[in-house]
Amino acid sequence: MNKHFLALHQFTREELDDLFVFTKELKAKQKQRIPHRHLEGKSIALIFEKASTRTRISFEVGVFQLGAQPLFISTGTSQMGRGEPIRDTARVISRYCDGVMIRTYGQETIEEFARYSTAPVINGLTDRFHPCQVMADLFTVIEQKGGYEGLKFAWVGDGNNMANSWIEAAAIFGFELTLACPKGYEPDATVLAWARSKGTTLITLTDDPHEAVRDADVINTDVWASMGQEAEQKIREIAFTGFQVNEGLLDGAKGNCMVLHCLPAHRGEEITDDVIEGSHSAVWDEAENRLHIQKAIMAWLME
Ligand code: CP
Ligand code: NVA
Repeated sequence: MNKHFLALHQFTREELDDLFVFTKELKAKQKQRIPHRHLEGKSIALIFEKASTRTRISFEVGVFQLGAQPLFISTGTSQMGRGEPIRDTARVISRYCDGVMIRTYGQETIEEFARYSTAPVINGLTDRFHPCQVMADLFTVIEQKGGYEGLKFAWVGDGNNMANSWIEAAAIFGFELTLACPKGYEPDATVLAWARSKGTTLITLTDDPHEAVRDADVINTDVWASMGQEAEQKIREIAFTGFQVNEGLLDGAKGNCMVLHCLPAHRGEEITDDVIEGSHSAVWDEAENRLHIQKAIMAWLME
């Protein structure tokens, strides 16, 4: 098992499958209020350079449920925001804390932090990856569809951090993934090349959302402008016209298809209100599962 959790490509299918089993166990214990204080007496730093609702709350609550102390740290109110080098911060924080979660911009920032940290580091979202979210999404698929094998997954929208982590997941778990992205908004080419080099799965890129969702079991989307891209909102609204997950698009998918969105959602843009509130939507279970999967990741790395 890798010491850090920075991206899915660090792990084998067997390791991640074990994590799903452990997550199921922890979720059952939580539902029955059976103590599972795997990190009793430890301290976990939660560092945020970007906004968050789900990640912050699910990590804070998860750390507490594991018997540890969460420390919420906003880079803007720490010396990181005043330019203290990442490597210095990493060496100091990991002398106080038993684990660190970071949400930041560059993947290279979190990788540098991990290089200098003596405590395990978890990626709570970078511009490149959102591995905790995709693990929560897959756990939701397993719960509701009995597994991921043989299912057809679709991505509709921006080739962003979520899309990149889905591509890694497809390569690791070996399921079919078709991504529909507007021209110029495709996923990271190196991530795609890595995934295709694994040769375990069929990963297809198109600019036709209808093609992507044809016979799909699981349909994913995300905002058109991610954090840090706010200035591009208007131009992206034009580029992403036709890339909305709506009832019409779902007509081409399997009748029992599942719709996922990591949230926050922009209703009327990438997804309609009737789809997110409708019978195909699993977004609230998906959001809840952030808590359970992250507890498993933390206990696994930090116990
Ligand atoms: N999905 C997700 O990571 O949500 P937050 O930005 O609210 O943490
Ligand atoms: N792609 C989005 C995900 C938010 C959870 C972003 O990076 O802002």
